[in-house]
Amino acid sequence: MSTLRTDGSPSVSAPVLGVKREKLSHIPGDEGWPLIGRTLSILADPKGEVERMSAKYGSVYRSRVLGETSVTLLGPEANELVLFDQTKLFSSTYGWEMVLGRLFPRGLMLLDFEEHRMHRRALSVAFKSGPMKSYFDQLNAGIAARVAEWHAAPGPVLFYPLMKKMTLDLAATSFLGTGIGPEVEEVTQAFVDMIAAAVSVVRSPIPGTQMYRGVKGRERIVAYFSQQVPIRRERGGEDLFSQLCRATDEDGALLSTQDIVDHMSFLMMAAHDTLTSSFTSLVSMLALNPQWQDALREEIAAVHTPSAATPTMDSINGMHLAEMAFKESMRMKPPVPSIPRRATRDFTFRGYTIPGGTLVGINPLYTHHMPDIWPDPEKFDPMRFSDEAQRTRHRFAYVPFSGGAHMCLGLHFAYMQAKCFTFHFLKNFKVSVEPGYKPEWQMWPIPKPKDGLRVTLMRV
Ligand code: HEM
Repeated sequence: MSTLRTDGSPSVSAPVLGVKREKLSHIPGDEGWPLIGRTLSILADPKGEVERMSAKYGSVYRSRVLGETSVTLLGPEANELVLFDQTKLFSSTYGWEMVLGRLFPRGLMLLDFEEHRMHRRALSVAFKSGPMKSYFDQLNAGIAARVAEWHAAPGPVLFYPLMKKMTLDLAATSFLGTGIGPEVEEVTQAFVDMIAAAVSVVRSPIPGTQMYRGVKGRERIVAYFSQQVPIRRERGGEDLFSQLCRATDEDGALLSTQDIVDHMSFLMMAAHDTLTSSFTSLVSMLALNPQWQDALREEIAAVHTPSAATPTMDSINGMHLAEMAFKESMRMKPPVPSIPRRATRDFTFRGYTIPGGTLVGINPLYTHHMPDIWPDPEKFDPMRFSDEAQRTRHRFAYVPFSGGAHMCLGLHFAYMQAKCFTFHFLKNFKVSVEPGYKPEWQMWPIPKPKDGLRVTLMRV
């Protein structure tokens, strides 16, 4: 038996880490094979699996993935119940723990309730407009430099690796600052290992496995950040790491070194694969829908002077179509396709009583393709995000950044970087794919094109 952290009220004792399978037998569903449950079906085709299960069992169903029986709740109302959660019914700590607990312990998303609120407040300082302006300058310069390098690429290129490299390089400067020095390669590699391990199938750090490399990477990162905290406090700096080194809690005390280390590790992870995935799907959609490249290029021309070689914080505010295209890419391929929580006490949804302790999942990927909300869901149509189209839609029908207390803290950072990227990319290139080419995507745990996305970049 274990207790959940709660919101400062006397600790709620609840048998919360898992419930006996029999207690869920009244929920319709199918737990698949002994031992492996339905894990392989989810890995092979996460969207198809959820669609098949919901067609057979409805929008509340029981399944078994990664060794635990869980309940999936589907649709905007389920998203609202689980994410808005004003009564602290769902724990994020004990939802994400199995996936991220070992490598990213006490990252913001792995904290709950009052403790989470306090840390989120402290971290929010690093996302206010002053610091964002300085990240923008770094990102803008970094994107321009990367895109200029792509000019040299002859013939078709694999876009996903290019994008992964770009987001890593950008994170190194905007998150850690330009003065990171010779350790940059080693620190970056440590991160790459941790991120890959977070979603690896073997969960124990056995030598030779990805998880082993991830655990070693974490040791390296902890050592690097811990040693840097006093230096950054002394030296100052506008990068995100230096901002966190100066951040204070509600009593005005600086965050502890351990807190900063945990928050930095988590932030870099939260930003990296999500940005790589969403920018790659944007480029993929633009390549498949060239009329949208023209529309976005026209918008860039309308918002900037013809000689503008670079956007500004103000000018990107006018790039509405670019934002809509980015949103539509994330509708089709949400970088976080499913979101786990654990119930802290019994609750009822659609007539089913679900016991406290149950692992509960919601599914942005499914919700973003519900045909009654998104007609012709496989069509790329950024106009779904016009003000008018959005007016009548359920506010939890579109949740790529989650919602409620854990809504992505880097949302504006992501939009800013997306629009800055769109500017430089489309000012320089027309992107196309070979006739008939339909890139296949692996959608879980984070969407990525199976073949790396083969595109041709032609100079505009
Ligand atoms: C397209 C890019 C991104 C997407 C789709 C995305 C998506 C998400 C989602 C779905 C969550 C919440 C999951 C949950 O409710 O359990 C989340 C949380 C978070 N994200 Fe992002 N993210 C993106 C980029 C970023 C960036 C660039 C940063 C930082 C610069 C960032 C920092 C965070 C943090 C700190 C949290 C935890 C918030 C909390 O628990 O209070 N994310 N993100």
